Amino acid sequence: MKIVILSGSPHRNGTSAQLAREFMRGAEEAGHEVFRFDAAFEEVHPCMGCDHCRKNEGRCIFSDGMTKLNPHLLECDLIAFVSPVYYYNMNAQLRTVIDRFYANNEALMGEKETVLMMTCEDDTTESVDGPVLCYRNMIKYLKWEDRGIITALNCGDVEAMAQTEYPRMAYELGKSL
Ligand SMILES: Cc1cc2nc3c(=O)[nH]c(=O)nc-3n(C[C@H](O)[C@H](O)[C@H](O)COP(=O)(O)O)c2cc1C
Repeated sequence: MKIVILSGSPHRNGTSAQLAREFMRGAEEAGHEVFRFDAAFEEVHPCMGCDHCRKNEGRCIFSDGMTKLNPHLLECDLIAFVSPVYYYNMNAQLRTVIDRFYANNEALMGEKETVLMMTCEDDTTESVDGPVLCYRNMIKYLKWEDRGIITALNCGDVEAMAQTEYPRMAYELGKSL
């Protein structure tokens, strides 16, 4: 299958990047084709809600990183959302990409699977409860199917994460697809 990883962290070797890397390793070993988009290192403008796309066959007023990403999003079978928790949510870099789904809302609906992987410092689920609910409601609306959620608690940095099973879980999730 064709997989798109949407990663939000500005840390190339941070905790969530590590989950993305392990997930990708497992998925590629299982024979899948993976396209990774690191939102923090791409130019992606926030959606202006101007509805220009709705009146112009999905064409957005911005010509930016989404131009590269959209063909992959439209044709992929699975999207993996990967983000650190920032103030009880996915981070803005990833949120910005998700808002830009709006231009292709109808075309994106249905026939896709999804994965969510998040890291946070908190050792309770309080920091991830909100974004997990948002993710579940978003994929329900878009008629997508969840294939797995990894919430890496108590992972404020890579040293803390090294003490955990989360990287292995990410690898196995990728491999299991
Ligand atoms: C702006 C900001 C906000 C954060 N907010 C939270 C939070 O609400 N809950 C939490 O547990 N950790 C929070 N953290 C900690 C990060 O989620 C954590 O350090 C994570 O491992 C960073 O991931 P990364 O290495 O992939 O960038 C925050 C970090 C930053 C920089």
